Amino acid sequence: MSMKDDVTTIPTDQLVSLLLTIKEEAEHQIDQSDASYEELRLSIFGKESELTKLSQSMRLVPKEDKQRVGIVLNQVKQSLEQLLSKKAKESGLVNEDWMDVTAPGVRPPEGHLHIVTQAIEEITQIFNKLGFTRVRHPEVDWDWYPFESLNMPHSHPASDEWETFYIIYPGFPGKNPRKQKIVLTPHTSNGQVREMEKGILPIRMINIAKCYRRQMDVSHVPMFYQFEGLYIDKNVSIGHLKGVLDYFAKAFFGPDRKTRIRPFHFQFTEPSFEVDISCGICNGKGCRLCKEGWLELGGAGMVHPVVLTNGRVDTTIYNGFAFGWGVERSFMMKSGTQLDDIRPLYGNDVRFLEQF
Ligand code: FA5
Repeated sequence: MSMKDDVTTIPTDQLVSLLLTIKEEAEHQIDQSDASYEELRLSIFGKESELTKLSQSMRLVPKEDKQRVGIVLNQVKQSLEQLLSKKAKESGLVNEDWMDVTAPGVRPPEGHLHIVTQAIEEITQIFNKLGFTRVRHPEVDWDWYPFESLNMPHSHPASDEWETFYIIYPGFPGKNPRKQKIVLTPHTSNGQVREMEKGILPIRMINIAKCYRRQMDVSHVPMFYQFEGLYIDKNVSIGHLKGVLDYFAKAFFGPDRKTRIRPFHFQFTEPSFEVDISCGICNGKGCRLCKEGWLELGGAGMVHPVVLTNGRVDTTIYNGFAFGWGVERSFMMKSGTQLDDIRPLYGNDVRFLEQF
């Protein structure tokens, strides 16, 4: 008996035994054949296969026998499918690493700019509003720019304060006394005379760059950023300086925070000040980071005439102010940051950085 016979002409018992025969033949085929998985699958389950044709004729089976024949048909199909996939796995006929192109994709984690970079962008924008333009000056420089040009003569003890990294350098071929030693700049003030040397007045620069000092504790890291403001024009006063500092403090830290200016000494400004902001961790009470309720942000003052002269600025016409603050310290003092140690900023721990 074969599928060529019409199903309606076959008694149900024989139909069942036909199904079992097809199953046996297919099992033998799966076991013995060297054909590929696809060929086997087509031969057993393809449109032209006996099993498919028999399934299509199921509607002709008498109603009372439909369930019985249907159960056998399903069992045969399932058993053959299992056998075929088992053989395929064992003989490596199918690749297990298939890809379901309809499955939803896995979104790669989204990063963001480092928090110090974010702070630099915010600082730049605030000073832009006041007409200060961001400039860049070397972070590895002749020591003349961060020291002597700023009124700190060679071997003057003032330069000891900066804990500077010097670069071992065999010496400059020429005899220019300003180009003898190379340093990793310990502050952004090296940009003052460099900016004046451009010869364009008035100057309203904001120089943000890396600085290096041999220091490491809760409020110091060996590499940090400073932002240096320089304003050179006619008739500049301390009032202008105070106005700019207050504007920045309000914009960056919020209206509730207090700033204070203390008299200080820098070789390159006269008079000089230290600018502090009330600590955002302890609200000015005193804590591990600030100790006395205030955190020093940086220095400021009116540019010393020697510095102006070194930058070829006519001191009979022009004067100005300068300030230099730490970017990381400023960021830590922002309301809500609650950071009492500067070092994790550069610890490269993503779990810490992604909180901001
Ligand atoms: C200066 O560097 C002066 N050049 C500032 C200045 C500019 C004064 C213009 C007058 C006119 P000072 O050494 O205090 O000053 O450093 C300024 C700020 O840099 C510090 O208050 C602090 O916020 C930051 N800073 C200094 N050293 C480190 C460090 N090792 N790690 C992190 N921040 C630092």
